[in-house]
Amino acid sequence: MKTKYLIEEWNETHPRWHEFGACLELVAPEQAPFVFEEYYRAYQSYLLVALQSNEVVGFIRFAVQPIGPEAKCPALYLNGVQLTEAKIHAFAVREDARGQGIGTELQKQTIQRAKALGCYQVASYSSYGRDANHHIKLSLGFAVQPEVHGDNQQGVYFIMPLKINTPLGIIG
Ligand SMILES: CC(C)(COP(=O)(O)OP(=O)(O)OC[C@H]1O[C@@H](n2cnc3c(N)ncnc32)[C@H](O)[C@@H]1OP(=O)(O)O)[C@@H](O)C(=O)NCCC(=O)NCCS
Repeated sequence: MKTKYLIEEWNETHPRWHEFGACLELVAPEQAPFVFEEYYRAYQSYLLVALQSNEVVGFIRFAVQPIGPEAKCPALYLNGVQLTEAKIHAFAVREDARGQGIGTELQKQTIQRAKALGCYQVASYSSYGRDANHHIKLSLGFAVQPEVHGDNQQGVYFIMPLKINTPLGIIG
């Protein structure tokens, strides 16, 4: 049965922050280093949590970073303004809460939040085998670029542009 859920934005000072940490360790421990270690420390990160029956059942966390340096490339500018992206580094929903649209809603709210933060795009990397994640991203219209990452791990970059203003207008 589907139960209602709420999405809230929390930061590290939120009194229930540890509940996010516990959910992360339970559902997606492989993502924990991206939250608790150095990777995105240099940049401001944002967290959206999904609450169901007042429990944390899902989350999405992203850092707002310049586009380029993470890929060891120079930062990119448009009309003298440095471009930033919302880089998703943690995203999961507790197994018993999946299939109710929570993951999709977390992605949609990330897109809205990233727009409000002035980001040029939303970006994420996902290895093959994350079929539900790939389905959500492709359904929402993310562009996709397959790539071999690090030590031969096949995966895809997903990119959602936020300032669509092409000579053809909005496509789709
Ligand atoms: C990815 C994840 C967050 C999705 O959460 P969720 O709340 O179940 O997502 P939703 O209910 O919004 O949508 C799931 C969609 O995936 C689809 N789906 C589920 N399993 C699938 C599969 N094996 N292959 C293809 N599509 C699948 C569902 O049908 C649904 O699509 P629909 O709305 O068009 O029917 C969740 O599966 C999860 O935590 N996975 C493990 C962690 C993970 O892979 N995170 C991504 C890190 S890169």
